Amino acid sequence: MEKIAYVNGSFVPHSEAKVSVFDRGFLFADGIYEVAAVLEGKLIDNASHLARLKRSVGEIQLALPETLERIEEIQKELVARNNLVNGMVYLEVTRGADKGRDFPFPKADVKPTLVMFTSEKDIINAPSAKTGINVITVPDIRWERRDIKSVALLAQVLAKQAAAAAGAGEAWMIEDGKITEGGSSSSFIITQDDVIVTRQNGNEILPGCTRKAVVKLAEERQLRIEERAFTVAEALAAKEAFITSASVFVQGVVAIDGNKVGNGKVGPITDRLREIYVEFARATGV
Ligand code: PDD
Repeated sequence: MEKIAYVNGSFVPHSEAKVSVFDRGFLFADGIYEVAAVLEGKLIDNASHLARLKRSVGEIQLALPETLERIEEIQKELVARNNLVNGMVYLEVTRGADKGRDFPFPKADVKPTLVMFTSEKDIINAPSAKTGINVITVPDIRWERRDIKSVALLAQVLAKQAAAAAGAGEAWMIEDGKITEGGSSSSFIITQDDVIVTRQNGNEILPGCTRKAVVKLAEERQLRIEERAFTVAEALAAKEAFITSASVFVQGVVAIDGNKVGNGKVGPITDRLREIYVEFARATGV
């Protein structure tokens, strides 16, 4: 059966899920998105994703067309209509479709566009959870407000295409000699003395929801965390490295630009953090 998407108030088959060519998301990337994981039919860490959605739209002066409560209802209905067990719900809100292509915001009568769709992915049993992934490094060529989850993702498309072409699972973006984050994930290393290091939040990176949960869960277990920028050399001298995101949870990194991290295998602390996160996800999904 064809999958169902949500488009501006209606649940429609994917083949009928359409927006205008004048949509400002299409013309200007004038929109915000969120991706929430679904595990065993439940939305994972969704309050955190909705809080970030609210913040992102606020930063670009875009009013949500629905309340956060209603958005969560729609997400849940979409999961149910698609019989989704494991995967993701993608959500995008744009500044709507005006009559033409004018850069300034449209008049108040132009309603924002809200679309959502689901995709299937067995995040728990993904083979790369065991094997880990290789990453490549690329210059971070993005704009200066990466804290906003904007749909303007061309830099990440190019970075992740370069990674895919090199047989790597992610691209780590470099600015001023330091790693900012992955193309669609937060970056972490674990030093030789077991300190978990991840870049501090700010305009330079997206405040990852999974990052936030992992930092909190680690702190609750008395693991040592340092929020600061780190270099590729530090990452290569580290014991372990990993990434976090709604689409992978916690995922080991075993090589950077072809050079092994640690012994070239997913490390025990990474494995433990993944277990802890999955436990948290199972216990708190809605
Ligand atoms: N990406 N950094 C960037 C640039 C991201 O695009 C993402 C998520 C993250 C991790 O955030 P979170 O833990 O909240 O998923 C960090 C989503 C999954 C995507 O674009 O598909």
